[in-house]
Amino acid sequence: MSSRQTVLVLDFGSQYTQLIARRVREQRVYSEIIPHTVTLGQVRDIHPAAIILSGGPSSVYNDQALRFDEDILDLGIPVLGICYGLQMLMDHFGGKVQSDGQGEYGFAKIHHETSGRLLEGVSTESNVWMSHGDRVEEVPEGWIVTARSTNNVVAAVEHSSRLIFGTQFHPEVAHTTDGERILSNFLFNISRCKPDWTSASFIEKTIARVQNIVEDKAVLCGVSGGVDSAVAAKLLSMAIGEQLFAVFVDHGLLRKNEREYITDTLQTGLGIPVEYHDFSGAFLSKLKGITDPERKRSIIGEQFIRSFEAIAKSHNSIDFLAQGTLYPDVIESGGTLGTADVIKSHHNVGGLPDDIGFDLIEPLRELFKDEVRFVGRALDIPDNILGRHPFPGPGLAVRIVGEVTPERLTILRDADDVFISMLKDKGIYDEIWQAFCVLVPVKTVGVMGDQRTYAHLITLRAVTSVDGMTADWYRMSPEILNEISNKIVNTVPGINRVVYDITSKPPGTIEWE
Ligand code: XMP
Repeated sequence: MSSRQTVLVLDFGSQYTQLIARRVREQRVYSEIIPHTVTLGQVRDIHPAAIILSGGPSSVYNDQALRFDEDILDLGIPVLGICYGLQMLMDHFGGKVQSDGQGEYGFAKIHHETSGRLLEGVSTESNVWMSHGDRVEEVPEGWIVTARSTNNVVAAVEHSSRLIFGTQFHPEVAHTTDGERILSNFLFNISRCKPDWTSASFIEKTIARVQNIVEDKAVLCGVSGGVDSAVAAKLLSMAIGEQLFAVFVDHGLLRKNEREYITDTLQTGLGIPVEYHDFSGAFLSKLKGITDPERKRSIIGEQFIRSFEAIAKSHNSIDFLAQGTLYPDVIESGGTLGTADVIKSHHNVGGLPDDIGFDLIEPLRELFKDEVRFVGRALDIPDNILGRHPFPGPGLAVRIVGEVTPERLTILRDADDVFISMLKDKGIYDEIWQAFCVLVPVKTVGVMGDQRTYAHLITLRAVTSVDGMTADWYRMSPEILNEISNKIVNTVPGINRVVYDITSKPPGTIEWE
């Protein structure tokens, strides 16, 4: 049985499933996503404080519709079904769900039919976010409709005697103006959850769990200069002190002045020694001639492990390798069944080879990206480390479209340095979630002085985001763009054209590869 109160989100494939877990955590209640195939026994073992059934693309009346073990409803645990989750509840209890060919997508208005526990304190008319093709036609016996949309669609229901609730709309989406209140009613008034998911409680529990697992053994932790590995290293050093070896593997794919940043700012800020190891020769020779993005990633992943193994050999027996894996990676690789544990024996991070000579230890695998920064702050890691934009493990290799060569790395490094320095000078670096340059394998014609030029194209990418799962392009002022473009073309040899990427995520990704 898990000692911490957990709200389980059963995933039926909604695009908003992660958002549900995040919203619950924002109310300081720990939440985990699990596949809809979770068994009754597993739920019993986890002993959740509440269960949320996510939305999803299925229709209850189809044979292939995703379902769950409906005996879970008889455990007496409060349940909230959202969208498809609500429709499953209606179907289970004998109601009728069908499609009339007209869905509701986007903003809608709902009004209360009668007061209920879920909508307590919500204005009688309120804006919600809908995204459904099917609708509830008949509400089963023993259920009360508490709200309808202006199209007369059943919008919220609750069981008259059991703690089971449903909404056709999405309370987790920011456009639902009373969404936070509705979730808070469900979590605290109905399910009696305690708001105990805080950075301090996470730190305390993780330190205890790490100590328990590691005992007197040694852990190698790669720090990359990014926020995640910095927070992981600090947490581990608090847990196991000198049994931690923080190492920095230079893969030759770093930004300008990164080595100095690691050996100076990061080491001082974290207050732990960081060993520097130069493996750039090995990485760059293996990347020679490689243009496929996935091949690049797997070559880099493999070489990282080989480098860590070589470093481990120079120390006396190292048993664990620490990684900064975050919760979205855990969910994408199938979830954890209720106890996102600090250790996993089978890795599933893309790019890592199968034959790793270590057990992996992943102290941040319960956290979303923005939660890592909160934890970092609680650990007193300075803002100049925590406020850095994310930088991907494969480094500049995924920002050079095509082959990675020393010449192209130099061009990209110089342009990126101009771009990032300018964002800092203009005071907008902190408004942006992530910014960088991408070198595209395209040469274009230009004219400088009276000379024709034929040189590289560089792309500027700057996005806003909360956790990197979705992102929007940053609306940079034309004046600043102009200054950046002039400075890059005038000071970086080999570039004669600058473009700005205005693609959001989705449909684009943040990185280009
Ligand atoms: P994408 O490009 O998928 O990236 O929208 C989302 C966020 O993840 C970072 N990223 C990575 N980080 N190893 C990392 O440590 C990787 O292989 C990797 N790929 C992408 C990316 O920079 C962005 O912040």
